[in-house]
This record gives sequence, C-alpha cells and structure tokens, in this order.
Amino acid sequence: EWKGETTVVVLGASGDLAKKKTFPALFNLFKEGHLPEDLHIIGYARTKMSDDDFHSRQIGNIKGPGDDASQSDKDAHKKKLDKFTSISSYVAGQYDEDSGFQALLKELEKVESERGVEKPNRLFYMALPPSVFTIVAEGLKKNCYSTKGANRIIIEKPFGKDTDSCREMMSALKEQWSEDETYRIDHYLGKEMVKNVLLLRFGNVWLESSFNKNFISNVQITFKEPFGTEGRGGYFDEFGIIRDVCQNHLLQTLSLLTMERPVSFSSEDVRDEKVKVLRCIPSIAREDTLLGQYVGADGKPGYLEDDTVPKGSVCPTFAALTLWINNPRWEGVPFIMKAGKALNEAKVEIRIQYKDVTAGIFDDIARNELVIRIQPSEAIYMKFNTKTPGLITRAIPTELDLTYKSRFAEAKIPEAYEALILDAFKGDHSNFVRDDELDVAWKIFTPLLHWIDGKDGEAPKPEEYPYGSRGPKQIDEFTSKYGFKRSNEGYAWPKTPMT
Ligand code: BG6
Repeated sequence: EWKGETTVVVLGASGDLAKKKTFPALFNLFKEGHLPEDLHIIGYARTKMSDDDFHSRQIGNIKGPGDDASQSDKDAHKKKLDKFTSISSYVAGQYDEDSGFQALLKELEKVESERGVEKPNRLFYMALPPSVFTIVAEGLKKNCYSTKGANRIIIEKPFGKDTDSCREMMSALKEQWSEDETYRIDHYLGKEMVKNVLLLRFGNVWLESSFNKNFISNVQITFKEPFGTEGRGGYFDEFGIIRDVCQNHLLQTLSLLTMERPVSFSSEDVRDEKVKVLRCIPSIAREDTLLGQYVGADGKPGYLEDDTVPKGSVCPTFAALTLWINNPRWEGVPFIMKAGKALNEAKVEIRIQYKDVTAGIFDDIARNELVIRIQPSEAIYMKFNTKTPGLITRAIPTELDLTYKSRFAEAKIPEAYEALILDAFKGDHSNFVRDDELDVAWKIFTPLLHWIDGKDGEAPKPEEYPYGSRGPKQIDEFTSKYGFKRSNEGYAWPKTPMT
C-alpha cells in the first residue's frame, strides 16, 4: 500500500467533477482514516485563484452530517475538514505549457520535502475533459513524473467516440504511461451492488447453477434518470445516451453478470474473464434497438428546447438495445439494456427473468425474477411464488427480500468514487477498465453508433417520449418481443390453480 509518501494531484481542480466527486471522495476516505494523515493534495487547473479561494470554492462545502446530527458529529466533521484543507493547496497553470507543469513540480517538491519524503509517490487524477487528456498526460510525464517513487494516473470517460478514436487516444496515452500505471475509471465498477455481482454469483451455489440459458428467459439492465440534460446538452449531444451510459456503465455491469468463474479474484483473472465474455457479443443489430428522445411535458422542457442542444438534433436520450452472447452458457438469451434521461423515476437495476414453470399443474403462475437494485436503496430480491396463507391453496407472487437498509441498517455504503480512489491507492486494478476490455466494448457498439451518427446515410429519427414518462410508447412491445413478461404487481390470481 501507498502510505505517507504519496501526493495526490487533481487536474481540473476548479471544475465540477472535482468539486462534486473527487474532493468529497478524497475527503471521506481521509475522514474515515483510509488515507494517511500526512497526505498532501494539490489541485491544478487553468483558473487563477489563491489557496483560500480554492478551499472555499471547491472544498469548503463538502457535505457533512445532516442538521439532525449530534453536535459532536458536526464538530468532528469540521475538525477533519479543517485538517483536510490544511493539506490541500492549489497551482494554476495551462494544460499545454511546460511552465505550468514546472510550477506544479515545484509545489510537489516543496510539499514532499516538508514531509521529508525520499521516494515520492504521485497519484494524478484527471478530472478533465477528454480534449486535454493526452496533452496533460504528456505534460505530466515530461515534467512531474517521480523518478524515485511510483506514479499512477487515473482517467475517466469519454475514452473516444468509437473504436478508432478510442484506439488513437489510448495509444497516445500509452506512449507516456504504462498499463500498470493507468487506472481507467468506470464509476459503476465502484458501486456496492455492482461489486457484489461476482460474490452473489460465485458464492451462492443455487444462484450460479441457475445462471444460464436453461433457466433464464431474459435479462434487463435498466438505467433511469428523472431529469433531462438541462444545461449539459452541449456535452451530451455529442455523445448521446448510448456512449454516455450503455457502452460503459451498463456493459461493465453486463460483463460481470455473465462472465465465467475467474481462476481467482485477482485483477487480471477477473478482467480476463470479462474480456472473454465481451468477445462473444456480436455488434448490436439495428433491428434490436429502440431509440427515443424526450419532448416537453407538464412544464418541463423537451430535449430540443435546451438552448445548449443544436437545433433539430436526432441524438437519442433513450435507448433500448438487445445484446446476445454467443457462448454455451448464454446462447439465445436476450440481454436488454434500457437507459434514458427524463424518465418517470431514478432507478438502476438488473432484472433477471426466469423461464415459465413447466406447463401442466398451474394455469397461470408468475415467473421468478431476481432483481439486483443498484440504486437507489440497494436491494436484492427474488420474485417468488408461495401458497397464499390460509385455508386455500392458491399461489401468490411474493418476494425473498434483502433490502440493505433493513438488513444492514448500520452499514455505511461508500460512494463509488471513494471505493475506486482507495483501490488506486492500493494498486488494485480489478475495478478499473483494462485496455483490451475497452477495445472490445467499443467494437460491440461502433457500427450502431455510426448508423445513429448518420455515417451510413440518413440518421435514424428517435421516437418521441414525454418528459417524465416510462420512455417511448413502443417500449413494452420491444421488451415483450424478447420474451419479457411484465409481471403482476398487485395482481389478483383469477383462478385457484391447484384445486
Ligand atoms: C455519468 C453520465 O457517467 O453517469 C451521466 O455521464 C449520468 O449522464 C451518470 O447521469 C450517472 O451516474 P450515477 O452514479 O448518478 O448513476
């Protein structure tokens, strides 16, 4: 582990990602004692500001315990935040000039010598737009690379826009930083329930033994957000929902859900298996897609009404995509990814629908469904049939319910970024995306994306759906085409099957 000799440098330190995710994650790790007391953090960005301004703008508002917390909890938070502030400093500089990185080096050397560090380790966190990734990675390597200690660089999507642009970007990065030094974040891999998937599967015989085409009819991985692109339309329009969420977050989840048992839980063994299963997925077919774009409803603006969105854009804000895995375990099982902005609720879940009970003794009985709810409120539940209690013999669908809030009431579930930054400190690559994994992930999506981008002729026009709805009206028809049977929330059984 990297103990006291490490300095963290956050590039893009004046930006939103740093403020909302990076600094709070670093702070929480620091507060909980996961990072060394004598850590130092340097923020670097173009904006000129003093240390004090940096502290008040980017760190001062990190959320503490709520209003109803005890005074001692509030005091403890304040004390830690003061300490965290005292170990954070700021350097302003350009992203494409050696002079800025030289100033950064000076600050690094200063804080390292103050702590008497002989073999400095440097962790560079790039909270930056992709347009400057490569140039910053070069500037850092040239000017700020520690020759005595170890260096690590953390980067985050978007990693290009298709297979070729991703390859270009990755190979430019590789000229400077080795695979071992590179940590590619997909923050879904830091989410508690996504991390749980391998344990659930390989730690439960009953589950793993039913995890195949013989028992499972179809799988849905759903990502729903109740808000649109408000103000972020400029960025979003260039990418669309598929690049924003499906190609990375949902595909990573899918690969963990479907990979074979790894030889061990070491990072290379796990990632080998992920790559293997991804290689069995052919690129997504046009006819296996349903694209949507939200329109205004109930006073909420439509996508095209966002001033930051180009006029007449056909960028999808919703996509349902069906993927197939050509291997003996999963052949013929549809994996439906659904992702959308401006929908009716906030929810990310995996829903595994089992096949029907063999015909003969029941007229109508609900399918088993295993649901892994990633957020909000982590839960795992199995839709499960039981006899209605009492003097009748009638099936009733119910649940085997593991809701984390009740079962693990005291547990603190870390934020994804906390888990991942700590992994990077420890040098554990398991929950980061490997280069070959990224490449194969892009191959699955690139032909479809080129079609949507209008590279093969006219771009397809997405179906409209009202802001706040469940998505385009064709969605139920789409999922049922792949065998999904909408189940019976609150359904009263019309017959008494076993009498
Ligand atoms: C990001 C996307 O990667 O993930 C956003 O760019 C999306 O559009 C976000 O809102 C969702 O992350 P989370 O952790 O809120 O589910």
